[in-house]
Amino acid sequence: MDSAGLRELLTFYADAGVDEPLLDEAADRFEETRIEAEKRAARREPVRQKTVVPPQSRPAVPKAAVPDDAQAARARELAGSADSLEALRELLSGFDGCNLKTTAKNTVFADGNPQASVMFVGEAPGRDEDLQGLPFVGRSGKLLDRMLASIGLDRTSAYISNVIPWRPPGNRDPSPLETEICRPFIERHIELVAPKVLVTLGNPSTKLLLNTQTGIMRMRGNWAAHKTPSGRAIPTMPTLHPAYLLRNPAHKKLAWNDFLAIRLKLDEAGGSGAPVS
Ligand code: URA
Repeated sequence: MDSAGLRELLTFYADAGVDEPLLDEAADRFEETRIEAEKRAARREPVRQKTVVPPQSRPAVPKAAVPDDAQAARARELAGSADSLEALRELLSGFDGCNLKTTAKNTVFADGNPQASVMFVGEAPGRDEDLQGLPFVGRSGKLLDRMLASIGLDRTSAYISNVIPWRPPGNRDPSPLETEICRPFIERHIELVAPKVLVTLGNPSTKLLLNTQTGIMRMRGNWAAHKTPSGRAIPTMPTLHPAYLLRNPAHKKLAWNDFLAIRLKLDEAGGSGAPVS
């Protein structure tokens, strides 16, 4: 392939979100799968009849030790000990218990005004956020800025963060364990900011912060309450994620309704959204 063709292919990959190689050498997965299948076939033994062992005579299986459980406990301990946002930011930056940190370039803590009346929480940083160390600065961030502006807000009158502070490699979904390890930090983050109104952007942050399995399409547009670790209830509006709206622009009208409800709530709460003095 000539250099123009190669450039075109790389541009195609970049547009599709493939922006990092995970191996130094190309791997032929089709060939690997074929060899594996051949090996399995060569090993195949005649199928034996299974003997059913009654439960009471089965040997006790020791519970597997999951070291990540310890990391989740450590995260809870650290996050709970932070008595200010600065302390929390420092503790999070120094925390090595989540493997996402090893591939991320930056810890993405927050952007905007921590004294604002309203806090927005997304899922996880993407490539642009990882490079700049700030949440929502890429394409979906630009849309979020326009959505904020539509109700008279900007990053001086709103505060923005994510459930996960490190970019998952290749923008994959964070695993449940990774989310569990990061959970205490975002919960303490919200508690320390103590916004009058919380907005969850998309499914993952809605499910985590509202402790629900109900999908965003049913949750959005309805006020709910986020319970802080110390038991305070914060009025919370789940709404559609800007990245989803970029893919489904016809649903922007739903998000617009949600944003009008947020504006109304802020007005009722006596906050323009601007810092509470
Ligand atoms: N999507 C998110 O959920 N958060 C970001 O910061 C960027 C994109």
